[in-house]
Amino acid sequence: MTDNGRGEIETRSEISLRVNDVDYRVAVDNRRTLLDAVRDDLGLTGTKKGCDHGQCGACTVLLGGRRVLSCLTLAVAAEGAAVTTVEGLAGDGELRPIQEAFVRLDGFQCGFCTPGQLCSAVGMLAEHAAGWPSAVTRDGSPERTPELTEEEIRERMSGNLCRCSAYPSIVRAILEASAREAVAG
Ligand code: FES
Ligand code: FES
Repeated sequence: MTDNGRGEIETRSEISLRVNDVDYRVAVDNRRTLLDAVRDDLGLTGTKKGCDHGQCGACTVLLGGRRVLSCLTLAVAAEGAAVTTVEGLAGDGELRPIQEAFVRLDGFQCGFCTPGQLCSAVGMLAEHAAGWPSAVTRDGSPERTPELTEEEIRERMSGNLCRCSAYPSIVRAILEASAREAVAG
């Protein structure tokens, strides 16, 4: 909050957001979440609001390539960083490998959790490729990229809940697409 020079506290900010390679200028309440800004101010409703307090993962987006919960991220904190939502995952009208694998291997039922699952999977595969260990990694040495087992995927995706319980297919899709995603970058 800042003083607007008239002795009043200013609770809104005009910010620039770069979402899916498009620049937006929006005025937001300083307490507005990135989730509400993306959905309600920018009209990108692919990102879903499940619990709205950091427990379900439905709102996951990529911020500077790293996955974040947009319901726990202030829009003002995203200024200047590249935001990628589910609408920005596919390039040139082509589904990326992880999206194609979700469709082909039934990685969803109602689809409500799917945007978050997809963004989280892309972020998770990048973390894995960078050698980040998880809680189930046996040899956490930074010199070794841990093998991407089903157990690793389950652990690394454990922040994304699916009420339809499509978990076996989600894990299969991520495992199957992982090599192609690494090439797609
Ligand atoms: S809506 Fe953000 S974690 Fe559930
Ligand atoms: S597909 Fe329905 S919540 Fe995951």
